[in-house]
Amino acid sequence: MTPVVAGLIKGHLLGPLAVRPSHKNRGIGRELVRIAVEAARRKGSECVILVGDPPYYQPLGFEKVAYGALTFPGPVDFNRVLVVPMIEDVHAGLKGDIHWRA
Ligand SMILES: CC(C)(COP(=O)(O)OP(=O)(O)OC[C@H]1O[C@@H](n2cnc3c(N)ncnc32)[C@H](O)[C@@H]1OP(=O)(O)O)[C@@H](O)C(=O)NCCC(=O)NCCS
Repeated sequence: MTPVVAGLIKGHLLGPLAVRPSHKNRGIGRELVRIAVEAARRKGSECVILVGDPPYYQPLGFEKVAYGALTFPGPVDFNRVLVVPMIEDVHAGLKGDIHWRA
């Protein structure tokens, strides 16, 4: 989990997430995401962002960020930029650069 500012929003960037192949499909990935999101919430984060597969993450509370709204330091597939909003109007604030915050 990397503390970031994404546009006007204070958040955490999650990832990479990986589960050892021998331990897949036991709910470990889902539980790791849940723990990470709760930890961010306790830290006062306003959102958790990641770049990942929507079919996996949307059932875990992630929503698509508007296409191209956030600018990353490297290339990303904008169809895979997802967010768990933790305050009102998060999507309106997710416009601009995403960068590390202290
Ligand atoms: C993605 C990953 C972290 C999931 O971990 P996991 O512990 O196996 O996941 P869970 O047990 O919580 O969930 C398993 C369910 O998610 C589904 N799933 C796994 N990867 C998926 C994906 N990319 N898209 C959609 N569904 C996916 C499984 O089919 C399974 O579905 P079911 O419950 O209907 O059988 C793991 O497969 C992994 O390490 N993959 C390689 C690295 C990777 O792709 N990381 C994510 C970057 S986006």
